[in-house]
Amino acid sequence: MARLKLGVLISGSGTNLQALIDDCARTDAASEIALVLSNRADAFGLTRAAQAGLPHRVIDHRAHDSRAGFEQTLSAALEAHGVGLVCLAGFMRVLTAAFVERWRDRLINIHPSLLPAFKGLDTHARAIEAGVRFAGCTVHFVRSEVDSGPIIVQAAVPVLPDDTAERLAARVLREEHRCLPLAVRLIAQGRVSVVGERCVIDAAGPSGALINPALTA
Ligand code: GAR
Repeated sequence: MARLKLGVLISGSGTNLQALIDDCARTDAASEIALVLSNRADAFGLTRAAQAGLPHRVIDHRAHDSRAGFEQTLSAALEAHGVGLVCLAGFMRVLTAAFVERWRDRLINIHPSLLPAFKGLDTHARAIEAGVRFAGCTVHFVRSEVDSGPIIVQAAVPVLPDDTAERLAARVLREEHRCLPLAVRLIAQGRVSVVGERCVIDAAGPSGALINPALTA
C-alpha cells in the first residue's frame, strides 16, 4: 500500500520531527516524510531533516507581505510534494481559518498540555501554578480556534512536588515523542474518523487509570 506522505512544519529544535523520522524508518511504516518546512532558517530541525536525507525548505513568514501569502507558499510546497497529512511539530505560527479549512482533517498539531486545559504558551509553568496533579500533551486535528480540534491521542504525566517548568517540560516532551508518531500511525492506518468533532479510533486498546500522588499504606 502507498505510504501516507507527511509534511512536517517546524520552528525549532525538531525533537518531535526526529520522533517521526525514527518511526517512519521502520520497515512496516505506513507513512513517510515527504517535506519538512521551517519558518525559521536557524531551526535545528532543518539539520535533522538534512541528516535524514529529507527534502526541507525554509519559508520565512517575514519575507511575505501577508499571512495569506505566507500560507499560500506553504500550501503550494506541500501540494507539490503530494502531502496528505500536515503535522505541526513545534510550529510557532498561528494559521488562518483559510489554511485550516484547506487542510481540514489533514492537519494535526502537538500541544504540550492536556487540552482543553492550558491552551497557548507557557503551559508547564501555568500547570504548576494551577496545582494540577497531571500535565501532559495532546495531538489533535486543527481547527481555526487556536489549540482546539478533535483529540486523537493524549498522554498524562504526573506533576511532581519539586517540578520546575523545565523539568516538567522534559517529562512531557518524552511522551510527545510517543504520541505524535502514534497519532500519525493511527491516521495512516485509516483508523481515525472525525464524528461530530470527536475522534473515533478503530480498535483502540484500553488504558488504565492513573492516580497522583501514589496511594501509600
Ligand atoms: C514541543 O513541546 C511542542 O509540543 C511545542 O513546542 C515544542 C517543540 O519542540 N509546541 C507548541 O507549543 C505549539 N504551540 P521540538 O521542536 O523539539 O519538537
